Amino acid sequence: MAKPLTLEKILFSQGFGTRRYCSDLVYADLVEINGVLADDPEVKMDPEGLVLRVEGVDWVYHEKAYIAFNKPANYECSHKTKHHPSVYSLLPRPLIERAVQCVGRLDQDTTGLLLLSDDGQFIHRMTTPKKNIGKVYEITTAEPITQKQIDLLLSGVVLDDDPKPCFAKACTILEERRLAMTIVEGRYHQVKRMLAAVGNHVAQLHRSSIGNYAMPADLKEGEWCWLSISDLEQLSKSIE
Ligand code: URA
Repeated sequence: MAKPLTLEKILFSQGFGTRRYCSDLVYADLVEINGVLADDPEVKMDPEGLVLRVEGVDWVYHEKAYIAFNKPANYECSHKTKHHPSVYSLLPRPLIERAVQCVGRLDQDTTGLLLLSDDGQFIHRMTTPKKNIGKVYEITTAEPITQKQIDLLLSGVVLDDDPKPCFAKACTILEERRLAMTIVEGRYHQVKRMLAAVGNHVAQLHRSSIGNYAMPADLKEGEWCWLSISDLEQLSKSIE
């Protein structure tokens, strides 16, 4: 059993606003707990497994937020965007209030799996270069993919900003112009620059998995979901 917390603190921890605002939500009859209207913001309860309904929106209590998001094209992974709207504009307000951050970034025109969290240690563990987590990208190329290009990607290519070569950990040709490539680093525009270095060009880029976690088949573009405990265990196994 988790430490009991007042309802006001629980609402605050989930990103529903200041403690005063959360208290007022209860007094305004805008909070249900497990289907029952709440009337006292000071009442203490075990937060684990609570199903809240706040201003008509269902919300399952999560001590920390671990999110999978299916990023559409034409969104930037930044709060201060330059040319396109932010991925954060597609998330509900409580997650923004909780200051979830992208776990690594995807380019504006890249689609697919993006993880977000408000757990700084998790973000650090997932993004530190020492951990070598495999990320799978499905790449549509401008030119047909040749075996020579695959061999070069696997044996390592040198990018212009670093003499240390970049390797593809695995490459599978899916179609004449489609390739699945696994990389473990996260250098700037890495996939696009690796394909350019072997004489091809990325026309479309989609990330389909991170470590042992694959994008859920039913998660549509622009949608997000909570990671389950078993998803987090899968991810932990990828970084050990
Ligand atoms: N490599 C790229 O070139 N772009 C991305 O968005 C991710 C990896």
